[in-house]
Amino acid sequence: MQNILDAVLAGDTASEDFAHLPLPESYRAVTVHKDEQDMFEGVASRDKDPRKSLHVDDVPFPELGPGEALVAVMASAINYNTVWTSIFEPVSTFGFLERYGKISPLTKRHDLPYHIVGSDLAGVVLATGPGVNSWKPGAEVVAHCLSVELESPDGHNDTMLDPEQRIWGFETNFGGLAEVALVKSNQLMPKPAHLTWEEAASPGLVNSTAYRQLVSRNGAGMKQGDNVLIWGASGGLGGFATQYALNGGATPICVVSNEEKADICRAMGAEHIINRSEENWKFWKDEHTQDQKEWRRLGARIRELTGGEDVDIVFEHPGRETFGASVYAARKGGTIVTCASTSGYMHQYDNRYLWMNLKSIVGSHFANYRESWEANRLIAKGMIHPTLSRTYGLEEVGQAALDVHKNAHQGKVGVLALAPEEGLGVRDTEMRARHIEAINRFRGV
Ligand SMILES: NC(=O)c1ccc[n+]([C@@H]2O[C@H](COP(=O)([O-])OP(=O)(O)OC[C@H]3O[C@@H](n4cnc5c(N)ncnc54)[C@H](OP(=O)(O)O)[C@@H]3O)[C@@H](O)[C@H]2O)c1
Repeated sequence: MQNILDAVLAGDTASEDFAHLPLPESYRAVTVHKDEQDMFEGVASRDKDPRKSLHVDDVPFPELGPGEALVAVMASAINYNTVWTSIFEPVSTFGFLERYGKISPLTKRHDLPYHIVGSDLAGVVLATGPGVNSWKPGAEVVAHCLSVELESPDGHNDTMLDPEQRIWGFETNFGGLAEVALVKSNQLMPKPAHLTWEEAASPGLVNSTAYRQLVSRNGAGMKQGDNVLIWGASGGLGGFATQYALNGGATPICVVSNEEKADICRAMGAEHIINRSEENWKFWKDEHTQDQKEWRRLGARIRELTGGEDVDIVFEHPGRETFGASVYAARKGGTIVTCASTSGYMHQYDNRYLWMNLKSIVGSHFANYRESWEANRLIAKGMIHPTLSRTYGLEEVGQAALDVHKNAHQGKVGVLALAPEEGLGVRDTEMRARHIEAINRFRGV
């Protein structure tokens, strides 16, 4: 692996030289093991410890198929989906791999007794399979995590609607938390030149998701002047939603759970902050009963902040705990756009507020290639910035995932794969200097 690393670190290795680099027998990868998928049976979700289930193994290289690329991964990042995989909730991801494996001999490669996780990467293309013309060995890239087959007509307006749509590194194998990853070439995008490897890897999944969910016409289609309620506004998704609201001329109302997170939102430029711990929000009286007085208190608090206005859009992902309040708080004709249910997926809301007030609930999931490309382009132009707070080594991935599981992190948590240290990979130092304050906003908090 050292020859690959040397070629990347040199920064000027020719494409032909990359193409002729001999590949080692195996590479290091973060995995969960199929024979351990029941290891947390009977344990409460919050007590399931990713440090026990995530391993770093030597694994063989997968065969390179048509339309695919092998990428030397310099850095990756933790997403909540790796937390879900590592605690085997709501289902074990080996079921996804088994089902994918049934399509063809090539997809069968993914059905293994181990699952290499991770849905983000920044690195360098090592080799491409037949039919790949747009990317050459040596290209410095990031990868979005949409994997599609596109054999059905259904996905040809919006690739997220492909019946065989999957999230790479979650519903497929050979993910980004590894020294080498296997992707489809239509996942590749140029690495923003002013960022380090770990900074470039970190926006990926959440940046694309927040872009579709909030900005794209496939999501809420946010417009200038909109008021946007953003749950977890300094978290993985929320840190980008807040930036998109501000960059697009909207007004974010940021909900966070402590003052450090509130300060990060202020540093991004947000003025309206709700500290949900300090203000002691409790939308449920007990497991079965919501407290509508709390919904009204939230509505009043939003009006207090906005000078009497309600929110046009609610950026939802906590799910069960907040969804009733979110439906209530949206303005007449407003949109509740949801991409997740971290606190539980059986939602309950008062439908009278939805239909009588002509509100819409919009489901949103990751992003198509075009949306991911646009989101990455905004990073590359320095209009949206990474939210990296801390970076771990590959061996410490269990701890990194535990931080996210326990909500003990800020923004995004990065992971170095082949990169021997942080701070490498910057190709445009002038542009970096112009944006350094924004790039470092989430660090050292
Ligand atoms: N469908 C998709 O494509 C997609 C893509 C990305 C993520 N997701 C899902 O979206 C969820 C969030 O992902 P993420 O990367 O943003 O995670 P994250 O970095 O943990 O951020 C989520 C934030 O939500 C807030 N939060 C958590 N539980 C809450 C609750 N019960 N009530 C109110 N706020 C709560 C927390 O902020 P405070 O403590 O500051 O309030 C937390 O920082 C996960 O379930 C993930 O799997 C889905």
